[in-house]
Amino acid sequence: MSGGDIKLVGFLCNWCSYAGADMAGTSRMAQPAEMRIVRLPCTGRVNPLLVLKAFQEGADGVLVSGCHPGDCHYNEGNYYAHRRLELLSRMMAVYGIEPERFRYTWISASEGARWAETVTGFTETIRPLGRLNLAGGGARDDDHHQGPAAGSASPAEKR
Ligand code: FES
Repeated sequence: MSGGDIKLVGFLCNWCSYAGADMAGTSRMAQPAEMRIVRLPCTGRVNPLLVLKAFQEGADGVLVSGCHPGDCHYNEGNYYAHRRLELLSRMMAVYGIEPERFRYTWISASEGARWAETVTGFTETIRPLGRLNLAGGGARDDDHHQGPAAGSASPAEKR
């Protein structure tokens, strides 16, 4: 599939979703190329500020994915993640980010096809939205955008 010019970041837990994404890759399942994956020990380690930082640094969409509820390798990490990420998703508009640009999900190591469907669906959601402009005024007009304009508040500072 074409790369387009949007940039997506995926924060994936090592034990489930990263392994699922790896399975999709090794099984040669078709999936978009816009996603850059960051492997983490557990979604319980995903501080909401990390997601906002990704947007500030140029991501046009951020996906967090971990083990299904009850399957976290650290027992409760994804329960903590769920609380934080649900609150974060409800706050996106406050930060000037369309809520569709952020998604979290649960995908196991055996669900390579589910990963491929999820990343494809997420990419197809973000493509029509185009580039994110945190400074306001619509989509970015070039690939060299480095975040909000000088002097404007970062997403974290807008709280
Ligand atoms: Fe996967 Fe905790 S180890 S979400």
